[in-house]
Amino acid sequence: MRELIADLRAVIGPAHVLAEPDVVAGYATDWTRRYSGVAACVVRPASTSEVADVIRACAAHGAPIVPQGGNTSLVGGSVPSGGSPGSGTAAAIPPVVLSTLRLTDLDPVDVRSGQVSAGAGVTIARLRAHAAASGLSYGVDLASRDTATVGGTIATNAGGIHTIKYGSTRAQVAGVTAVLADGSVVGDMSGLTARATGYDIAQLLTGSEGTLAVITAARLRLRIAEPAAAVLLARVTSIDAAADLLARIRAAMPGVLAGEYFDAAGMDLVCRATGLPLPPGYDGPAADADSARARSQVGPAGFLLAELTSGDAGSDDILERLAEATLPEETWVATDARGMAALWAYRQRLTEAIATTGIPHKIDVAVPAGELGAFRSELDGVVRSGAAHEGEPMVIVFGHIGVGNLHVNVIGPDPADQSVDAAVARLAAAHGGSVAAEHGVGRAKTAWLGLSRSAAEIAAMGAIKAALDPAGLLNPGVLLPSQR
Ligand code: FAD
Ligand code: MLT
Ligand code: ZN
Repeated sequence: MRELIADLRAVIGPAHVLAEPDVVAGYATDWTRRYSGVAACVVRPASTSEVADVIRACAAHGAPIVPQGGNTSLVGGSVPSGGSPGSGTAAAIPPVVLSTLRLTDLDPVDVRSGQVSAGAGVTIARLRAHAAASGLSYGVDLASRDTATVGGTIATNAGGIHTIKYGSTRAQVAGVTAVLADGSVVGDMSGLTARATGYDIAQLLTGSEGTLAVITAARLRLRIAEPAAAVLLARVTSIDAAADLLARIRAAMPGVLAGEYFDAAGMDLVCRATGLPLPPGYDGPAADADSARARSQVGPAGFLLAELTSGDAGSDDILERLAEATLPEETWVATDARGMAALWAYRQRLTEAIATTGIPHKIDVAVPAGELGAFRSELDGVVRSGAAHEGEPMVIVFGHIGVGNLHVNVIGPDPADQSVDAAVARLAAAHGGSVAAEHGVGRAKTAWLGLSRSAAEIAAMGAIKAALDPAGLLNPGVLLPSQR
């Protein structure tokens, strides 16, 4: 390992090879604290050619490489293995974490093509602010925007709050530059969309979770900015009622930027954990077990949040049109920036609020629109029977209901116990859903990939992996089960 570190220092300079155990440990533990592992060191190259040099040096020593952007992965994909749930067998030399945070070039916006070239380490918040300065917008937005990077969001095919309108990251990627496991550089940053010259490498790498190449830069499509004109929060009696209400809103309104659901228990928790005031007039968490039971019989299952654009309409017109959607009695609407942000906070601060209760099991799934109600009503029973634990687990569901993407959060079961995760993945698959929706497979879900992909598809993915990374150096144990 000492020679490996010396070689890495020789290629990118000693200041950018971090080997202090405390520092390395910070890069080797994920955002959830559920996944952590052992790394030889952390390298921070500043250019594509430095990334290529690092990869060649690692390959020469047989050291695996874990590409890492903002380390906001919720499935353990951005950290090495070593005893966390789903971890692969440790390699002889621990992995090198390759941080992209110094790949921060951001070109001027190309207004003719409506595209921009960005380094892999540029954060989504910086990219969005840069696009906005040219009157354009980047189609992906997510609560981790201040930390999540261009490279990480491409590698996971991240979704987020605007997927209903603009699609996931895949729909924004017009090209990449990437370094393969042998150190060769591939990609095309021309931004040409009229191009039929064979396999699309940028799209292949989108969603590849660091297993095929290290992305160093990307050419991204931008959109004409469509600012939010209103945000609506409505209390609904079931997840099906939320989906029906969203369908009515989509039919009545010129544009829906976001359609999000969260359980009433999520509202209770987010207000308790963050100090946000309850929405005016909402009577808040049930005071005791009897009133909680009474409330669950009549309903208030959750909330729908919708973010709307005005199209050609003014804000008065928006409110009139909204009335056509037959809104529930308890609906809050904001049309000013402050009010919209206040409504969004209930939804956007859920992840942080849940994290204050301990280390949650976070199971990101997708379910067809027609199955949402059945999935949600079976979920609590499945969690209870699937988890080996003492006491009642807390289940909070929220997510991007407009695209059937639900985040199941379970608090209570031991973080090392995967039985509850398995039970939820099986339930999603039984309803025709996907075991991974927007967070990726990571280390967390390799065992259940076969519930959503056929044996032939997994074999095809394995063949691609073997062709591009025959020694299995790039992110072993992530996405596809690994022998290393
Ligand atoms: P990392 O976490 O560092 O890495 C993620 C994966 O990508 C790993 O497998 C890693 O090896 C690989 N990778 C990273 N960079 C590269 C690169 N340059 N080349 C090749 N592989 C690379 N996700 C959503 O989809 N939608 C959401 O709404 C959303 N909200 C979130 C909110 C919070 C508060 C948090 C903490 C997370 C949220 N996430 C969400 C999850 C996370 O932010 C995304 O998965 C994001 O895409 C990860 O980006 P990152 O830069 O942090 O990547
Ligand atoms: C979200 O939609 O807020 C994220 O995917 C984060 C999470 O699942 O906690
Ligand atoms: Zn999400």
